Amino acid sequence: TWTMGNVIDEQVASIRAQVGDARVVCGLSGGVDSAVAAALVQQAVGDQLTCVFVDHGLLRKGEAEQVERDFVAATGVSLKVVEVADRFLDALADVTDPEDKRKVIGREFIRVFEQAAREVVADAGEHGEEVRFLVQGTLYPDVVESGGGAGTANIKSHHNVGGLPDDLQFDLVEPLRSLFKDEVRRVGLQLGLPESIVWRQPFPGPGLAIRIVGEVTADRLELLRHADAIARQELTAAGLDRDIWQCPVVLLAGVNSVGVQGDGRTYGHPVVLRPVASEDAMTADWARVPDDVLARISTRITNEVREVNRVVLDITSKPPGTIEWE
Ligand code: XMP
Repeated sequence: TWTMGNVIDEQVASIRAQVGDARVVCGLSGGVDSAVAAALVQQAVGDQLTCVFVDHGLLRKGEAEQVERDFVAATGVSLKVVEVADRFLDALADVTDPEDKRKVIGREFIRVFEQAAREVVADAGEHGEEVRFLVQGTLYPDVVESGGGAGTANIKSHHNVGGLPDDLQFDLVEPLRSLFKDEVRRVGLQLGLPESIVWRQPFPGPGLAIRIVGEVTADRLELLRHADAIARQELTAAGLDRDIWQCPVVLLAGVNSVGVQGDGRTYGHPVVLRPVASEDAMTADWARVPDDVLARISTRITNEVREVNRVVLDITSKPPGTIEWE
């Protein structure tokens, strides 16, 4: 019979058989797939694995800590963190077009990851070991979508590092290739990963950069991070996490509107709440979040985030609207 324990045992055995004594690298994004894939490989080959986390400064509040502290505590994995927020902000200066943002972020990400992977290879070299394997959190639906080619990196987002140069050749370890998302979550829980990681809602690779309509700046990131954290807190407190597929909070940085806050007139920015219900993100409906929850989010954001004086609700389904605004 099919149980989580069997799946884990089977994958652990097959990873050991594939990898042998070689060293393995895994990029962590903060998302559930890469976390579960890494935890499985860690279970199988222990300290032969080094994880790399590129902190590009575009994650939400608390997400970098989830990787650096909670994931490490749960798995004991050896983690190399690369702090490159400034580099990404510089690269994003003056960039406003959504696809240009994606290109810039994808390009920088691959450069940084490539450098970090080289360093892992060099460190391992001193110990006379070989780094030959790269872990990917490819799921069964990804395999089907990309035609099922074995061992090929499908470049769906920049977190799949298919663009690595030829002199850094890795064989792929893909322990989630036969699993669906809900199974991945169950494996993650069984492996002892925290619920905050296992139940994380989908979050785009380019992160908050594509939730700021306009140029990405440190100040804007800070206030969006704050507003997003409030919305997430209230949705979680209301028990809505499993009903809502995801809820982007979007900062309309180029739009000002007049408000009255505290002692006087303000001329601040609106944020948009975009809660959606969906099965697979291909189509979506706007989620009917109860009024009292919306009211709490609105009151708290306008009270606690000084620069925001208006909270609006996106009631567009997909199609015609996409889930993200960019
Ligand atoms: P849209 O906005 O196209 O989003 O309805 C569908 C799903 O994909 C996520 N998304 C992305 N994920 N890189 C990613 O890794 C991206 O550039 C990207 N753009 C959108 C979005 O959050 C939603 O889950």
